[in-house]
Amino acid sequence: MKKIKILNPDNNKTYNFNIIKGSCGPDVVDLTSFYEKTGMFVYDPGFTSTASCSSEITYIDGEKGILLHRGYEIEELAENSDYPEVCYLLLNGDLPNKNEKDKFIQTLTNHTMLHEQILRFYSGFRRDSHPMAVVVGIVGALSSFYPEKIYDFSSNEGKWVAVTRLLAKLPTMAAMAYKYSLGQPFIYPKNELSYSENFLHMLFSTPCGDYSPSKAKIDALDKLLILHADHEQNASTSTVKIAGSSGANPFACVAAGVASLWGPAHGGANESVIQMLRLIGNENNINKYIKKAKDKKDSFRLMGFGHRVYKNYDPRANVLRKYCHRLLNEIDNNNIPLLKLANKLEEIALSDDYFIKKKLYPNVDFYSGIILKALGLPESMFTVIFAVARTVGWISQWKEMIGMEKSKISRPRQLYTGKAKRDFIDINDRK
Ligand code: CMC
Repeated sequence: MKKIKILNPDNNKTYNFNIIKGSCGPDVVDLTSFYEKTGMFVYDPGFTSTASCSSEITYIDGEKGILLHRGYEIEELAENSDYPEVCYLLLNGDLPNKNEKDKFIQTLTNHTMLHEQILRFYSGFRRDSHPMAVVVGIVGALSSFYPEKIYDFSSNEGKWVAVTRLLAKLPTMAAMAYKYSLGQPFIYPKNELSYSENFLHMLFSTPCGDYSPSKAKIDALDKLLILHADHEQNASTSTVKIAGSSGANPFACVAAGVASLWGPAHGGANESVIQMLRLIGNENNINKYIKKAKDKKDSFRLMGFGHRVYKNYDPRANVLRKYCHRLLNEIDNNNIPLLKLANKLEEIALSDDYFIKKKLYPNVDFYSGIILKALGLPESMFTVIFAVARTVGWISQWKEMIGMEKSKISRPRQLYTGKAKRDFIDINDRK
């Protein structure tokens, strides 16, 4: 095994660390014994150079703009698969055959309903609550229906209880959060519908009439779910795994993931993109906002641009742009000006020196908001849809971690910059 040498200039000692090779991508230096050997910690706030784990699920080459799930290119999956099939792939490692897929879908449809007691939780939320606040609460509340006392989540059976219940129930919970915000009755799932059609049904049907979405709408939602399904060790996935590393209930861990996704630098960006496009208003204002985005003193950023990992086009944005055009042409001419503005903004930003030098390209959220708007959803629901899609990524990565032989609690250390030890001062003697 190749080694890397590190010299400590203070004592002139050299330490060797193993270099580990993955199947693709950069090698890693095994620093698990770094503190033990050197007495120093490794400093990497924001984890820009840290591989927090090994994983077989998703591979990203940020320089080339490549995203693979279990070896399959995201473009191929988006073109040829449906969301349940991609879920099966992420969870199990291979695409299902026909029987396996039918059985998986049947298992999911068997668990789409929520316990009637859960429905009462919704009325405890303010009517104008952000649906993400509701979803964080309701997903976390599932842990009281599936407690560790009854379910051994470290067993295979327990893991599958968590997987199937979360995948099956998240769309129902999300749709009910939306219905609650509208003051409309909850719509129960329909098992004869596909995953995405059923989700649209629960979002848009009412007791007065069933909603029958066009194929273009069902496809657009399904593609959007596929494109958001997993993305390696991103902030929300790492949150789920850190929570899970202590042995916490998986439903509570996923609630933590939903909370982490909510922020505008992560899943909340899709909501911010539409707000930004609305703020820009028309093509004549683009240069003004590009200037603001480049100004260090201005907090304005081009939302939907830039990515921690991609220093090239986000491959998901490429696919979504295509579906966005298709969808708007077929069903929603009203939002075409928004898409035109987005295209123009992309064109101008991509020819600007600042964005070129910093390798800032459109990310998945740049187009997802426009698709969700065309589907008839309000901005407050955009990140909720992302959460539904990403649930499979969270739970696949949690399941992989729980199954590892040497699974340790995640416990980072720090560079302490506070006061050194000092004496306690009696309150009467303090200045
Ligand atoms: N507009 C203007 N400048 C930007 C932008 C942007 N959207 N993104 C990054 N920069 C600049 C940033 O100011 C910094 O400049 P400097 O080096 O001069 O200080 C440089 O580019 C590097 O940015 P960073 O914030 O240090 O990079 P990061 O890897 O920590 O952040 C990011 C990545 C996605 C948080 C950031 O690009 C951003 O805030 N983008 C807008 C929000 C967004 O679209 N988020 C969705 C991410 S994709 C979906 C998901 O994963 O959830």
